Amino acid sequence: MAEEATTYNYKVVRQFAIMAIIWGIVGMAVGVFIAAQLAWPMLNFDTAWLTFGRLRPLHTNAVIFAFGGSALFATSYYVVQRTCHTRLFAEKLAAFTFWGWQLVIVLAAITLPLGITSSKEYAELEWPIDLLIAVVWVSYAVVFFGTIVQRKTKHIYVANWFYGAFIITIALLHIFNNLAIPVSLTKSYSVYAGAQDAMIQWWYGHNAVGFFLTAGFLGMMYYFIPKQADRPVYSYRLSIVHFWALIFTYIWAGPHHLHYTALPDWTQSLGMVMSLILLAPSWGGMINGIMTLSGAWEKLRNDPVIRFMIVSLSFYGMSTFEGPMMAIKSVNALSHYTDWTIGHVHSGALGWVAMISMGSLYYMIPRLFNRELYSLKLVELHFWTATIGVVLYISAMWVSGIMQGLMWRAVNADGTLTYSFIESVEAMHPFYVTRFLGGALFLVGMIIMAINIFMTISGAKAVDDAKIPEAAHAH
Ligand code: HEM
Ligand code: HEM
Repeated sequence: MAEEATTYNYKVVRQFAIMAIIWGIVGMAVGVFIAAQLAWPMLNFDTAWLTFGRLRPLHTNAVIFAFGGSALFATSYYVVQRTCHTRLFAEKLAAFTFWGWQLVIVLAAITLPLGITSSKEYAELEWPIDLLIAVVWVSYAVVFFGTIVQRKTKHIYVANWFYGAFIITIALLHIFNNLAIPVSLTKSYSVYAGAQDAMIQWWYGHNAVGFFLTAGFLGMMYYFIPKQADRPVYSYRLSIVHFWALIFTYIWAGPHHLHYTALPDWTQSLGMVMSLILLAPSWGGMINGIMTLSGAWEKLRNDPVIRFMIVSLSFYGMSTFEGPMMAIKSVNALSHYTDWTIGHVHSGALGWVAMISMGSLYYMIPRLFNRELYSLKLVELHFWTATIGVVLYISAMWVSGIMQGLMWRAVNADGTLTYSFIESVEAMHPFYVTRFLGGALFLVGMIIMAINIFMTISGAKAVDDAKIPEAAHAH
């Protein structure tokens, strides 16, 4: 038998963790810039590659796939090794996933501002990049599941179930939604047509929310909250019910993105009902995470890292309450096309996805570099800038969104529209400025984090990776 590894592979985890912070800053800076463009349109500078239309997909790709993706790779590689008491499987392939994913990001950053796009939201990248993503993703699956197969523990901890479901589902979604016929190196056409294309796109889009922006981050919740709180997860049984209920329900909810369209009516109703049911597993999971702190609530006062994690769960609870409400057809008739959707997106994206990642990175990075965190005061400052930033962002969008919806549908006694479209645009201006300020605060928090992490690891000498415990597996 080959010699047994005695340490964990932290190299690839460190690489992804650092890139998560860097891409977070880049993606959010683009977000702040496009928020400014919506408030002050002259910032489009009459330059094609600087226009809102080109930079918006750059923002969404950078924050979801570069920032969120790197945080997911980093934490999943860390968690799977620590909970399986074994070194990462196929190290060269793991290194390939890092460099391959960074290449995908760089190619996205070049092609999207050039206007090269397949025009499918969150799947804009053209076919050669899609092929590269598929290869990187399958390699990721091999590394992750290979590590699980060679585990030294009997049990597969629940965090790995969530990460595993995320990896498998994203592979399926990505491959089927991007099936296309290339006509040149930079242009392809979807193999699906009309309503079917829309259906496949939102089966993809909604499950990108469910699995990319939720399931993997729930994996973080199940590992890092018990660790940081130093308590076992509140209910292990609930975590298993949570897992199966969530993955079964999410997959049906996509049509709520296509209410009142050419999609068959029954599919819209099915999407609505499944979205309402989705409230239950979402809240079950949130309660399981928050209650892990029961008996240790004072930690919320003293430990800003745990505060990031618990507040992120509160935003998760909020956005998974709001989502089912917006899926009700009569509510959607008001909210669709308005800033309400944008507010919902960012209460999930900033409040949940970004804040649980920040908490997990604050826990993990000092351990990866064998250092103490440089400053808890800076974490505290980050926490408040981030929290105030999200609240400003989402409350501005709620007001603006509901106002838009109401202005658009207001009619006079004679049946004519009460407001012209441009009047609604004018009315949104103060809220766009507020959103810009909230976003800028959130970005400042991210920069504070980068400084704190830089100070934590700078000067750190190369340290040995943590030892794999011996006791768990007899030789
Ligand atoms: C500093 C922080 C951020 C700012 C200022 C910001 C700003 C924006 C703006 C202005 C838009 C376009 C809205 C519109 O078209 O009306 C947008 C869209 C979007 N952003 Fe952000 N963003 C930030 C962070 C994030 C993060 C961290 C994520 C995800 C993890 C995210 C995900 C999205 C998504 C998915 C959309 C598209 C929403 C839709 O099509 O309904 N954003 N963002
Ligand atoms: C129970 C959970 C949830 C349900 C049922 C739900 C439902 C909805 C609904 C009905 C819409 C509006 C569709 C439209 O009118 O076009 C929407 C949009 C969206 N939601 Fe959620 N949501 C949930 C949770 C979340 C979470 C946790 C996040 C983020 C982490 C999120 C991210 C998004 C995004 C990105 C969009 C905009 C999609 C687009 O049009 O580009 N959702 N959601």
